[in-house]
Amino acid sequence: MLENFNSLSRLLNILSDGCFHSGEELGYLLGVSRTSVWKSLGHLKNLGVSLVSVKGRGYQIPGGLDLIKETELLNYLQLHNAPEINLHVHSLIDSTNSFLLNSEELHQHVSVAEYQSAGRGRRGRAWVSPFAQNVYMSIGYSTTEGLRQFEGLSLAVGLAVVVCLERFGISGLQLKWPNDILFRGKKLAGILIEMRGDVMGDADLVVGLGLNYRVNDPVTAMQAVDRPWADLHEVVTQLDIALTSRTELIAALIAALHELLQNFSAKGFEHYHAQWMKHAAYLGQSVTLEGPREVFQGVFLGVNETGSVRIEIDETEKVFHSGDLSLRSVL
Ligand code: BTN
Repeated sequence: MLENFNSLSRLLNILSDGCFHSGEELGYLLGVSRTSVWKSLGHLKNLGVSLVSVKGRGYQIPGGLDLIKETELLNYLQLHNAPEINLHVHSLIDSTNSFLLNSEELHQHVSVAEYQSAGRGRRGRAWVSPFAQNVYMSIGYSTTEGLRQFEGLSLAVGLAVVVCLERFGISGLQLKWPNDILFRGKKLAGILIEMRGDVMGDADLVVGLGLNYRVNDPVTAMQAVDRPWADLHEVVTQLDIALTSRTELIAALIAALHELLQNFSAKGFEHYHAQWMKHAAYLGQSVTLEGPREVFQGVFLGVNETGSVRIEIDETEKVFHSGDLSLRSVL
């Protein structure tokens, strides 16, 4: 298995240059038979890697792959004042959130992956995670203060991601309550926060972020995604700016979330409220708020200073606290 896994990673490294490589050359470089190369290429396709084969030329990943570079990532973290982070870079994993939740120690540990076989989204959904095309990362934080101090954290995480992207010139992003990040109404990123431990005392938090970066083969790779989505490549193309490397972006995101987690419990959501409202999607628009049992319809008024959603229904303002709700605009 390990041998398989290693040769898969090596194969990906070779093909990541976007050039054609013949089966013979790949077999020679990996020290394996052509049949074994062919099988590995099949595995790559199953991981969502878009692979082209042309008779007489060999195999190619069109546009190449921007693989996460661990050493560079560690160097960036030093530059971004986050040297205390314990970094785990995985080629393949079930879920970066699960990896941290299953670890004994997770404080200031970060798990980043090229591929998730069982990526999880909010409300029990799956998070589609094709290989080396997006960002899948989780950061752990342990507290002795209980979880009450973290009310509104998930909204502040969305804001921290938006502010981080703005530093790269990426403007026009919006926050859809509680924490989806939208570009022109399409979902660019999602956040899943999971917790373990005591609500009043020792507890661990895992903040997971999935951000669409550059999907090579949207039809195959994202066919299971049932809502309009955007990737960062599309965003920068529309804004006519350059796309930052995945490694640099991941480092900046880790540093931004690390800083937020260090400050949040002292400041509370109140500190981030005004800035969150500036980025709020659907303000003053007709929306529905879907819960497990009920659907409410009204006008979206934003959030209050604890992060609860405010909706005007029949000229009366109602406030909803639960995280298990989904907001949608009524077009
Ligand atoms: C959402 O439904 O919008 C939340 C998506 C969160 C996905 C990320 S990807 C990294 C981390 N690991 C997971 O399994 N989920 C989160």
